[in-house]
Amino acid sequence: MTINFSAGPAALPEIVLLRAREDLVDFEGSGLSVIEQSHRGAAYERVQATAIALLRTLLAVPDTHEILLLQGGARGQFAMIPLNLITPGASADYALTGFWARAAYDEALLVGRARIAADTREADGWYRRVPRPSELNIAPGAAYLHICSNNTIYGTQWSEFPDTGTVPLIADMTSDILSRAIDVSRFGMIYAAAQKNLGCSGVVAVILRKDLLERARPGLPTIWRYATHAQHASLYGTPATFAVATMRHVLEHAVAIGGVAAIEATNREKARRLYAALDARPEYYRLPAATSCRSLMNVTFFLPTAEANAGFLAEAERRGMIGLGGHRTAGGIRASIYNWVSLEDVDALVDLIAGFGR
Ligand SMILES: Cc1ncc(COP(=O)(O)O)c(C=O)c1O
Repeated sequence: MTINFSAGPAALPEIVLLRAREDLVDFEGSGLSVIEQSHRGAAYERVQATAIALLRTLLAVPDTHEILLLQGGARGQFAMIPLNLITPGASADYALTGFWARAAYDEALLVGRARIAADTREADGWYRRVPRPSELNIAPGAAYLHICSNNTIYGTQWSEFPDTGTVPLIADMTSDILSRAIDVSRFGMIYAAAQKNLGCSGVVAVILRKDLLERARPGLPTIWRYATHAQHASLYGTPATFAVATMRHVLEHAVAIGGVAAIEATNREKARRLYAALDARPEYYRLPAATSCRSLMNVTFFLPTAEANAGFLAEAERRGMIGLGGHRTAGGIRASIYNWVSLEDVDALVDLIAGFGR
């Protein structure tokens, strides 16, 4: 049995994989694979509508917000957001708290005017925390404030979201959607590529306040407009049918195990056990993230030497644990403990952390 601590694409529940396999061979007894179904047919339309309805229920998305299932991943949204939401003459604000937050900002600069509302990068290039509310400098007329709710590479997370007044708050939740309860009504937009907590790559979930749908700049091609996808119930072009069908299974599983409240309780316990094991040996493990900003999803740490890091990864692999190497730009160790990594999986890692290097 391999335990997958990869940062994404990430571990999925076995039941989801089994159902996806069934879909692939014989979808609901139709004699056709799910990827052979017409996306205009009733069977597929039901799958997609169910996925959207489940997302709405699980995340308690109010009627004020549209849910879209799009392609192009989270990086596609880095471009679509400024294209659709920076109105002529306006500028958008970005909080820079890590690699992905900065990548979103860099993309916005290609499209329009963007400003840095906060930047927590330190002199050595590492991001150890998210900004305090007092450090956020939001321009009163900003088109929006963009944040990354969980910084996948540096292992930091916003535990509370900023109050942005009338400026719409937009969050990249690719690495923590569905992991904890959130108040969607506080956001202008939330988006998440599926390959960590929602399923497999190929689909990105977008939750957008309806009054923002029609802001797109004149001349923006039809395919890049949020309004197009809202008008066509996310069936404008052929959707990523297999990815959507797999997301539906993930969401059904999420409901079956008790919804976001149950998932959050397990996630908090997983993170508690892992951080406790690391904190118990401060002379051996160094955790770069500020304690108040520690992520519940990505736990980053370093052993005393590069050789010890390499030895740790090798011993982990020998015990069946993979995906623990830090991001290529960061190094060290990163344990991604997304929704579908179990408590038992985490305990296996805790055991290694407790005993390694003694
Ligand atoms: C927070 C965050 N945003 C964006 C991305 C990029 O996602 P995609 O590859 O779907 O563009 C990632 C991928 O790891 C991520 O963790």
